[in-house]
Amino acid sequence: MSQLPAAVRIVEVGPRDGLQNEKAIVPAATKIELINRLSATGLKTIEATSFVSPRWVPQLADAAEVFAAIERRPGVAYPVLVPNEKGYERARAVGVEEIAVFTAASEAFNRANINASIEESLARFEPVIARAREDGVRVRGYVSTVLGCPYQGEVSMADVVRVCRALHAMGCYEVSLGDTIGVGTPRKAREMLRAVAAEVPMPALAVHFHDTYGQALANILACLEEGVAVVDASVAGTGGCPYARGASGNVATEDVVYMLHGMGIETDVDLDALAATGRWLAGELGRETSSRVGRALAGPGVQ
Ligand code: HMG
Ligand code: MG
Repeated sequence: MSQLPAAVRIVEVGPRDGLQNEKAIVPAATKIELINRLSATGLKTIEATSFVSPRWVPQLADAAEVFAAIERRPGVAYPVLVPNEKGYERARAVGVEEIAVFTAASEAFNRANINASIEESLARFEPVIARAREDGVRVRGYVSTVLGCPYQGEVSMADVVRVCRALHAMGCYEVSLGDTIGVGTPRKAREMLRAVAAEVPMPALAVHFHDTYGQALANILACLEEGVAVVDASVAGTGGCPYARGASGNVATEDVVYMLHGMGIETDVDLDALAATGRWLAGELGRETSSRVGRALAGPGVQ
């Protein structure tokens, strides 16, 4: 029996997951305008940027400049990625109030992405999370490669569950399950979520699908039927992962919101404003939006 949630919180990851994977360096002013426009659509969580090493992700080297300049609306959370204490300090220096730590269920992916084993990454997070707790900073957690890894292929469900449980036990209020390279299909996605939810309460889980094989919406629907009520998505379908070859964009936020509203599930997001923002962003990136909903809502001749 389906147990669809009445409302879903969208975590907009376009300014981070989207822009980190653009070949061109997007100007800080465009990033700031993007976040401000997204804030005006009713989104409650907007992942703004990433305080990682600028050598590893030059696209987000301007994290401090961007974060300091955005208009922070009351009631909207602006989490940022933080890989270690250095990132935490940089983020706090510009007033960040929510962070996201990130690791993976695959050793090979973690080595390529953050130059650490799973255990080393968790150990790195300990002092970060302890400081966050002291400072009243909320911490979200990501587990990547939950349905497959670009380096090692299969990822064991036991590893996914173990890493999710560890992040939750360390104090992450929410753990986002990342299908980093978009290889999942609905039955596998459902089984994975079920296995994790047996150890971490469903209200503390989110899903994060990349759309490489066009399966993201179907996977999200399967997970909604399991009771998940937080969905990560990226406006205009931008995104990918620089350390995961073949990872295409995240599922487009416009497509997710259209599906949810069509099913009577609330998001508080103004779909027309969101779609217009997606088309504007795609224009800034010199291409058409990859959101079908974004294109359909434009109508003939409308920009
Ligand atoms: P490392 O090279 O092992 O770091 O990188 P290190 O600690 O040895 O330091 C080396 C140098 O980097 C030092 O500088 C540090 O100060 C500097 P030096 O003394 O040589 O001049 N450094 C930093 N500088 C600025 N900010 C920092 C920082 N840390 C060290 N925070 C590290 C390890 C984790 C830093 C690196 O691997 C890294 O930044 N990786 C990030 C990769 C990344 O951002 N990937 C994309 C995000 S994950 C993702 O997209 C998946 C997700 O969407 C979910 C999904 O789809 O599955 C979340
Ligand atoms: Mg991602």
